[in-house]
Amino acid sequence: MSRTVFVNGEYLAEEEAKVSIFDRGFLFADGVYEVTSVLDGKLIDFDGHVARLARSLAALEMPNPVTAEDLRAIHHELIARNDLHEGGIYLQVTRGAADRDFIYPADATPTLVLFTMAMKLTGPGKADQGIKVIAIEDQRWGRRDIKTVQLLYPSMGKMMAKAAGKDDAWMVEDGFVTEGTSNNAYIVTKDGKIVTRQIGPEILNGITRTAVLRFAREAQMVVEERPFTIAEAQNAAEAFITSATTFVMPVVEVDGAALGDGRPGPVAKRLREIYLEETRSMAS
Ligand code: PDD
Repeated sequence: MSRTVFVNGEYLAEEEAKVSIFDRGFLFADGVYEVTSVLDGKLIDFDGHVARLARSLAALEMPNPVTAEDLRAIHHELIARNDLHEGGIYLQVTRGAADRDFIYPADATPTLVLFTMAMKLTGPGKADQGIKVIAIEDQRWGRRDIKTVQLLYPSMGKMMAKAAGKDDAWMVEDGFVTEGTSNNAYIVTKDGKIVTRQIGPEILNGITRTAVLRFAREAQMVVEERPFTIAEAQNAAEAFITSATTFVMPVVEVDGAALGDGRPGPVAKRLREIYLEETRSMAS
């Protein structure tokens, strides 16, 4: 049986409900959600869910598309229209649809979606036997080597950089730089060595990175794949980032400290030239 769901102000048959492929929930996981349980056709702990939703939205500087009162009414309407006695109501708010950009769009309209989930939550069942658990590493999200669309934190990072009047951010973990918000990070030491974090679960293994390091080695440059700190970067001769959208981009300032004379350095400039020349000649 088809459910009635709620999408941006409308109650629709679930087959009719659509969200844009440009929705930031889809492209950046730029959204928040709540699940409220329903017992005997009534909402459980609704005020708690509404309060947490408001907190989550505020933390992401996302406008709340609906008042608590309207939200309650939508929940009750969905319970009535779907004759839900027991289960849950899933609610998701995203920042809305906009051209893909890590920077939050200025004028996107939030997407609001709710649907019911009929489930048996009480009565005879699992609670009589209890459940069994295993132990796993908490890797939320420690698998940055996988190119997933979990881009909310990178997006927040770019916004922090923008608020500080800068272009991007380098992320630091346990005192060492991992990578840029959407690019790999490099420094060039005063004795001319190119240093960049070794590959592993902590960073995305850039396709551009692989090519640039190969070209650097072919040009007899010394490459060290190891962690470096922000302090080391601030004392470096130069720095740069790489990605498919920036190629080799010189970095002239790291966390308030200008590098060298504050202008793009020769190694970054040279690598950019080599990269463009070599990859253009191999382009398919
Ligand atoms: N980002 N590290 C992160 C976290 C990235 O998101 C990216 C790419 C890279 C560089 O990978 P590559 O050289 O394969 O582009 C490193 C893309 C450009 C983006 O999200 O727009």
